[in-house]
Amino acid sequence: HTRVWQSTLGPLRTSAGAVTVRPIRSRDGAIWSELRTRNEKTLVPWEPTGIGSWVQRHHRSQWGPLYSALKSEARRGTVLPYVIELDGQYVGQLTVGNIQRGAVRSAWIGYWIDSDHFGGGIATAAVALGVDHCFGRVGLHRLDATVQPANEASQAVLKKVGFRTEGLLERYMDVDSRWRDHLLFALTVEDLPGTAVEALVRSGRASY
Ligand code: ACO
Repeated sequence: HTRVWQSTLGPLRTSAGAVTVRPIRSRDGAIWSELRTRNEKTLVPWEPTGIGSWVQRHHRSQWGPLYSALKSEARRGTVLPYVIELDGQYVGQLTVGNIQRGAVRSAWIGYWIDSDHFGGGIATAAVALGVDHCFGRVGLHRLDATVQPANEASQAVLKKVGFRTEGLLERYMDVDSRWRDHLLFALTVEDLPGTAVEALVRSGRASY
């Protein structure tokens, strides 16, 4: 699995344009910093609490160490760190983490999109591409996604791809400086009759 994270997924057409999911790059620092800084208000309510201010944590100089850490985890096969592109432009990130092998073969999936591009079906297309990669080449059987009950847009994304709710994880994660309940969404290989992308295309939400 040293190279499996380097796959590029897509493109898949949505109403917003062509969505591609590709590995993070060392030269993503400037755009990562710009978008994360500009999207502070839409990201803070949903993202893990960090040390230091949002602006400090997303200074351009922080990308180097973050990129290196993600890349070494990716090489070990525990993380798939991706950028979501719309018509070739960086518009967000998709990350698969805590990849477990053996008899569990599961991971979590998470994502964010620049608010300038909300509602175009980009996250849904990216998650579908990520799911098919995880259940295909990566060889996983189950994906989890944890979402706060108030995050309706993210729940809509997961439902469109076929994720089910399995319950409420009480005081699950430290987000925006409080322990927040999260809904546990999950998807296993058995839930999908074909691929997630095929189902999205069939539902008219994306095309090849
Ligand atoms: N209430 C109900 N539904 C909503 C709302 C709302 N307030 N806002 C948007 N939606 C729906 C849209 O109508 C759309 O569904 P539809 O196609 O059935 O109409 C759906 O949410 C959004 O689908 P996409 O367009 O594919 O998603 P988008 O590209 O806009 O990205 C995302 C969604 C990633 C959640 C974006 O809003 C975002 O980045 N938010 C901030 C970060 C975040 O919350 N990330 C997810 C954390 S949870 C996790 O990673 C598992």
